[in-house]
Amino acid sequence: MRPSETNRSGEPAEAEGEAPSSGAGPGSPAWELLLPAASAPARARGRSLQAALREAVRAGRLAPGTRLPSSRDLAADLGVSRGLITEAYEQLTAEGYLRSGRGAGTWVGGAVRAARPRARDLAPRPPGARADFVPGTPDLSLFPRAAWAAAQRGVLAELPHHDLGYPDPRGLPRLRTALAELLARRRGVVADPERILVVSGVAQATTLLGFALHARGMTSVGAENPGSPQHDALYAAAGVTTVPMPLDDEGLAIGPLRDTPVRSVVVTPAHQFPTGIAYSARRRAELLDWARSVDGFVLEDDYDGDFRYDRAPVGALQGLDPERVAYAGSVSKSLAPGLRLGWLLVPEALADEVIERKRTMDLGHPTLDQALFARFVERGDYDRQLRRCQRAYRERRDTLVAALEEHFPGSAVSGIAAGLHVIATLPRRYGPEKHFLARVADAGVTVRPLRDYAHETADIAAGEDVRLVLGYAHLSPARIRAGVRLMAEAFRG
Ligand SMILES: Cc1ncc(COP(=O)(O)O)c(C=O)c1O
Repeated sequence: MRPSETNRSGEPAEAEGEAPSSGAGPGSPAWELLLPAASAPARARGRSLQAALREAVRAGRLAPGTRLPSSRDLAADLGVSRGLITEAYEQLTAEGYLRSGRGAGTWVGGAVRAARPRARDLAPRPPGARADFVPGTPDLSLFPRAAWAAAQRGVLAELPHHDLGYPDPRGLPRLRTALAELLARRRGVVADPERILVVSGVAQATTLLGFALHARGMTSVGAENPGSPQHDALYAAAGVTTVPMPLDDEGLAIGPLRDTPVRSVVVTPAHQFPTGIAYSARRRAELLDWARSVDGFVLEDDYDGDFRYDRAPVGALQGLDPERVAYAGSVSKSLAPGLRLGWLLVPEALADEVIERKRTMDLGHPTLDQALFARFVERGDYDRQLRRCQRAYRERRDTLVAALEEHFPGSAVSGIAAGLHVIATLPRRYGPEKHFLARVADAGVTVRPLRDYAHETADIAAGEDVRLVLGYAHLSPARIRAGVRLMAEAFRG
């Protein structure tokens, strides 16, 4: 092979699994790779040949299984003594890079495959804790694989060819129609399919809204404090800063909001993240009055609005004023965050900018995924999944509350009516918090204090109280019980 006859990645074609050439000469990969080393000064030539061969194997340019030319042929072709080639083959065989059999020739060994560079996995995943109460992940084993696979088969059979082309940047009409029905029914949203965008989760919805606000001159938004750390980073990506705003018992405190120059806020009214407060009817009305008075917007992050256990569902804020509230949700808690599938309902004033941003960002959401999810919703599979998760998570919540009562008597547990985590305030005797956290960490329990979600300005008394955000959805009841017991034992120890 000539130097110019490489494949697109610049590697010899043989390294990609084509039939290996076993002869020397211009058709041999070894010939090409060793040519520069063969013209090294005589004293260094042997070592250079070995180094070049070793490097070629290590980097995968000579793939495992590639048969090398005979020492005689290669030596003749490179114009070096046969002894140098024999020596190189022997040395690399001893090192495990090559293998040879009596009379069977020499080829690249298989063990070196591991030497190819491997992609690292930087996914945020739980560390190897004995018990992990970090909130944010549902039980991924509840993913409905069979129903999903059936929907996938159905969609592949029925999808018109044109749906495989670039979509409407808002999403497939079929899915937007299905979502409009679903969200109106389940969340009381005023859902015009023309104003729904299919997006990559609440995360992308947040950034898209950030861009739209920025374009209207709003370079800062108010954000709940304590609140989701995601909001700060996602708005920052759109050049919008977040201004931490305090909470009271009814939700985001309205007085301080009126005193700031911000004209938009991001809120989690169904189940405030992380405190679990459900915004009162009064606070909802006040928030909307405020938005109208400043000609601003409320961004409703309905991140776990599907899960409520003991009380009547609280409808989405968006239903009260769809021209002031942008509403975002996703399947991250109900199916799996890895699907990166969500929706955004936008007020008319923001719609054009948001749609254009979505178009220039990625030309629309993957259409197969959209069609699949549309079918999943249309056939009632999504409702079934929500009911199944609801049952499982209610049991886990009850288990966690009972375990806390048993092992940490006197604790106050709040935010339990909905969502996938609770707030537990342990009695003073378990404090100070720093010591408590150090002890449970030593025992292999991963747990987040409420303080971790707060900007410095939040009124979360430092020191004595132990206030924990305990995610339970991803843990089986047995693991929840074992985890709480471990925490208690760590403290006693
Ligand atoms: C409050 C809140 N909002 C938004 C998100 C991002 O959700 P998504 O996966 O839908 O982008 C998260 C992720 O955990 C979250 O906790």
